[in-house]
Amino acid sequence: MTDHIKEPYLLTPGPLTTSRATKAAMLRDWGSWDDDFNQVTADIRRQLLAMAEAPSDEYACVPMQGSGTFAVESALACATDPGGKVLVLMNGAYGKRAAQLLHMMGRRYATLDKGDYLPPRADEVAALLEQDPAITSVFLVHCETSSGILNPLDAIADVVHTHGKALIVDAMSSFGGIPISLATTPIDVLVSSANKCIEGVPGFGFVIIHQALLEAGEGRAHSLSLDLHAQWEYMERTGQWRFTPPTHTVVAFQAALAQHREEGGVPGRCARYSRNRDALVNGMRALGFSTLLEDEWLSPIITTFLSPPDPAFEFHTFYAALKARGFLIYPGKLTEVESFRIGCIGQLGTTVIARLLSAIQDVLADMDVSLIADLSSPSGSA
Ligand SMILES: Cc1ncc(COP(=O)(O)O)c(C=O)c1O
Repeated sequence: MTDHIKEPYLLTPGPLTTSRATKAAMLRDWGSWDDDFNQVTADIRRQLLAMAEAPSDEYACVPMQGSGTFAVESALACATDPGGKVLVLMNGAYGKRAAQLLHMMGRRYATLDKGDYLPPRADEVAALLEQDPAITSVFLVHCETSSGILNPLDAIADVVHTHGKALIVDAMSSFGGIPISLATTPIDVLVSSANKCIEGVPGFGFVIIHQALLEAGEGRAHSLSLDLHAQWEYMERTGQWRFTPPTHTVVAFQAALAQHREEGGVPGRCARYSRNRDALVNGMRALGFSTLLEDEWLSPIITTFLSPPDPAFEFHTFYAALKARGFLIYPGKLTEVESFRIGCIGQLGTTVIARLLSAIQDVLADMDVSLIADLSSPSGSA
C-alpha cells in the first residue's frame, strides 16, 4: 500500500486513494491524436469488455469524458427510445438523479421509489412491467452509494429480460470490485467510471452497451458533447476521442488496470474490499455504532453508520478530528436519519482500517461521546 505520510487516506467512494504507480503514470504528456495514445484507448476499451465478460462481437465499450454522471447521461440519451418509457428503480440519490436526467431530456419514465435504503425486489419490478406495457427499459443502480446497499441485480435482470425489456445498470461504484458478468446476466447497458473500483483517477466514465442499442441510438442525443453514438462512431473510425480526452487520466487508468489484474482481477479486489468491510463493520459495532443496513445488504464498497444519539456527537467535529489524524470519511446522504459513511475501496487494507478504528476511538473519547457497545447487534457480524 502507498506511503501516506502527508496525504490522508480517502475512505470515500471515489475519488479514492490511488497507488504510487497509478499517480506516476501521469508524469508524462501525451498527444491526443498520436497513435501511441490511441493504442492506450483501444487497450482500455478491450480490457473493460473483458472485465465485464461481454462478448466483443455483441457489445461495445465507449469511454466518455467527464465524471460518472456524464457517462450516465450519455448512456440514457442513447439507449432510451424517445418514444418509449423507462422504469427507474430508486433507493437513493443516484436513482433519483437518473429520473432527473430523463426529465430534463424530455423522456417518459415511471419510478419505483423504495426510499433511503430498501432494495427494489424482482417481483415488484415484474408487477410494474405487467401493469404498464409501455415501459421499454428499466434503470437500476447496482450499489446505491448513498446508503451502500447492494441491490439484487441478478434477480432483477432476469425479470427484465423475461419481459423483453432493456436493462440499464449504473454500476458506477461496483464495477471492477464486485463480479458482474454480461455473459451470464442479461444487462444491455452498464455504466461506470475511472475513479471507483478500478482505482484510477477522475476524468472519464465508460459505457458498455449492446451493439444493437448503440446503433439505434444514432441521432437521439439531446447534447452535442454527450452523444454516445457519435463518440463511438468517431472512435471506431479514427481511434481517437471525439473531443479533447483526459490523456493523463487515461494512461493512469491503464496502469490501474494492470494492478487490478495483478491483484487477481475482480475476485481478488472483491476479496480485499470484503475484508476491509468486515474489519470496519465489526470494529465499529464493537465501538457501539450501528449500521443502517442489515448484513444481507451491506456492500463491500461503502457502509453507512448511524450517528450516535449522544448530543456530544457532532459530525463536523468528528470529521475534522479524523482528518487531522490522516483519514477522510464521508458525510451521510440519508433524508431521514443522521448518518455518516466510510468507504472500503481504494489502495488500503485491514491495517489501515485498524488504524482508523483506533483513531475513531480516540476522537470519541476527546469529544466525550459515550457509545453503548452493542456487540449483539440484530444484524450480527458482517
Ligand atoms: C452509483 C453512482 N452513480 C452515479 C454517480 C455519479 O458519479 P459522479 O459523481 O462521478 O458524477 C456516483 C458517484 O459516486 C455513484 O456512486
